[in-house]
Amino acid sequence: MVRTLVTGATGTLGTALQSRLTEAGHTVRAASRSPPDESTADVEWVALDLAEGTGIQSALEDVDAVIHAATAPQGDTKAVDVAGTDRLLEAAVEADIENFVYPSIVGIDDIPFSYYEHKRTAEIAVETSNLPTTIVRATQFHSFVAELLDFVAKLPIWPLPTRIQVQPVDVREVADCLVDYATETAAGRTDPVGGPEVHSVGDLARAYRRARELRRPILRVPLPGGTTAAFRAGHATCPEHAVGSVTWNEWLTEQYASDTDDLRRHKQAAV
Ligand SMILES: NC(=O)c1ccc[n+]([C@@H]2O[C@H](COP(=O)([O-])OP(=O)(O)OC[C@H]3O[C@@H](n4cnc5c(N)ncnc54)[C@H](OP(=O)(O)O)[C@@H]3O)[C@@H](O)[C@H]2O)c1
Repeated sequence: MVRTLVTGATGTLGTALQSRLTEAGHTVRAASRSPPDESTADVEWVALDLAEGTGIQSALEDVDAVIHAATAPQGDTKAVDVAGTDRLLEAAVEADIENFVYPSIVGIDDIPFSYYEHKRTAEIAVETSNLPTTIVRATQFHSFVAELLDFVAKLPIWPLPTRIQVQPVDVREVADCLVDYATETAAGRTDPVGGPEVHSVGDLARAYRRARELRRPILRVPLPGGTTAAFRAGHATCPEHAVGSVTWNEWLTEQYASDTDDLRRHKQAAV
């Protein structure tokens, strides 16, 4: 039985990982800055703050594998993703971890964006750490794309860089893939995990608008600069690795089709 530490266990990916790891027979230790008061029979929770450097050694005690899913895309990515990953790696070497699995993002070498630059720095630290490691890049999760659109949906007109290319993937399928890799044998740098289809942001927004039965106009905003140019050129996609099977439309149907009329009215009123 593999004893596996999941950092970022309260996050989108971390949440999807917990049940899959236990179903696959792992003993799971889940880490967060504010863990729930009580661990369950399935999952042992521990407190870990990578930016402060607290709880790291005890989180790694008696662990075979780590899936390092903690990240702070909206916060201090340098403190969490770079310095925090360095701290975790240093302690993982001391703890003789057999496989350090690092989820990363497709296209981070080619897209000039500070969060991606920090992810790339962290990837290099993982690769050069003297630990057996596995790096799995994935495209954007459906839920992440939906969160961005939820924000825009509050506006009367949706200003969007409609030509950006995205290949959204279901986080559950990314989690399945990571669980397959979380064995006692590290796999090194693996093939990336992409969703089944590449879409423009304009297409994604129109499907989202339909699914939510909204009528707001979409306004193309051609953002200047290298970051959007790289996204437009498709650097965040990997069509040759369309591993996921759940399409954006299927995901939207799952999210919105079961809404009761009341809930749908409530969501529309909130926009
Ligand atoms: N989202 C995407 O579309 C996407 C696509 C491809 C790859 N990925 C990668 O997948 C991984 C997980 O992403 P996600 O979207 O699931 O992230 P997320 O939902 O934003 O979750 C981030 C997690 O990191 C934890 N965290 C934040 N600051 C921390 C700190 N100082 N110390 C310890 N833990 C901290 C948070 O836990 P607490 O706040 O509870 O401490 C939370 O559980 C990341 O490596 C990301 O780059 C994401």
